[in-house]
Amino acid sequence: MPRVFSGIKPTGDMHLGNYVGAVGRWVEDQDRNDALFCVVDLHALTMPWDPAQLTARTREVATLLMAAGLDPDRCTLFVQSHVPEHSVLTWLLNNVATYGELRRMTQFKDKSATHESLSVGFFDYPVLMASDILLYDTDEVPVGDDQRQHVELTRDIAQRFNHRFGQTFVLPKATFPPAGARVMDLQNPTKKMSKSEDSPEGTVLVLDDPKVVAKKIKRAVTDSGSEVRYDPDEKPGVSNLLELHAALSGGTIAASEKEFAGLQYGALKSAVAEVTVEALRPVRERYAELSADPAELDRLLAIGAEKARSTAAPVLERAYRNAGLLMPAGLRRTG
Ligand code: TYM
Repeated sequence: MPRVFSGIKPTGDMHLGNYVGAVGRWVEDQDRNDALFCVVDLHALTMPWDPAQLTARTREVATLLMAAGLDPDRCTLFVQSHVPEHSVLTWLLNNVATYGELRRMTQFKDKSATHESLSVGFFDYPVLMASDILLYDTDEVPVGDDQRQHVELTRDIAQRFNHRFGQTFVLPKATFPPAGARVMDLQNPTKKMSKSEDSPEGTVLVLDDPKVVAKKIKRAVTDSGSEVRYDPDEKPGVSNLLELHAALSGGTIAASEKEFAGLQYGALKSAVAEVTVEALRPVRERYAELSADPAELDRLLAIGAEKARSTAAPVLERAYRNAGLLMPAGLRRTG
């Protein structure tokens, strides 16, 4: 079975872009694959954070992943900082990745244009992500389009390491959903949906009340003209709604386009509101049940971390050994 790994940061609220681009697909991946999913709390440290909020959000995101359908009996669900091998491998890979390639990362270029003093951790973010992926001999990484460049860098780092030190890492490939790989902001459909603080009306949150979900979608900015047609350049608003419809109804963009051909924008918006509300309703309900028992969550995450470590430790050891780090006699390096 192909090994699948993916992660999500516990920053901000989980939104529809996260759900459609990644989390919703993970639920299917857990049965077709040997799958690990991670709440990447160490990645949340790369921008200034509030400690109490980080703790709360880490639990919240883990609970939401289970509410969305990840089952700790069918996949490995864990928190990144519980598995120290992620940080340890990062140091090794820091010496294989180059300054030039990290400087070329879009995320770094965008943030450094507007932020004066980014942390070293932020600059190094993609190497930590490469470590996440490579530690598990990952074949496939289900992500949204914004992570494409990071997975490509992961392959480059793995290839360079293998070339220098002999076969060590599996080369992973990113997988994207056929529709919804880049869900756009409902109020500004030329910008990807991201943090709700930046665009409260343009961002649908997984935990939004169904009435709020419907309202946000019905008020989505559409385009001039009245024809429902898939054309992301000329009609970004309508195209975004068609992608959401296809992704959440399990059909194709072409089928959604056909269904709404000749109809008004209003009909498309109502249909998208309905499929979105129906997709998110069970998640919201299950979240309310699961969040009532944080001790059970902590117990499940501890089991997840043990399972993850048992896969990660031998891969780290292989990488250390191949790189020539002396193995301690009679001991596993990471206990
Ligand atoms: P993060 O936490 O920003 O997002 C989690 C997942 O949601 C996807 N996503 C979207 N998909 C479609 N449309 C959108 N508007 C949208 N916004 C977010 C992201 O592509 C992602 O798949 N660096 C990663 C976390 C990470 C990771 C990893 C992922 C760390 N280590 C290892 C995969 C493998 C991130 O910041 O995702």
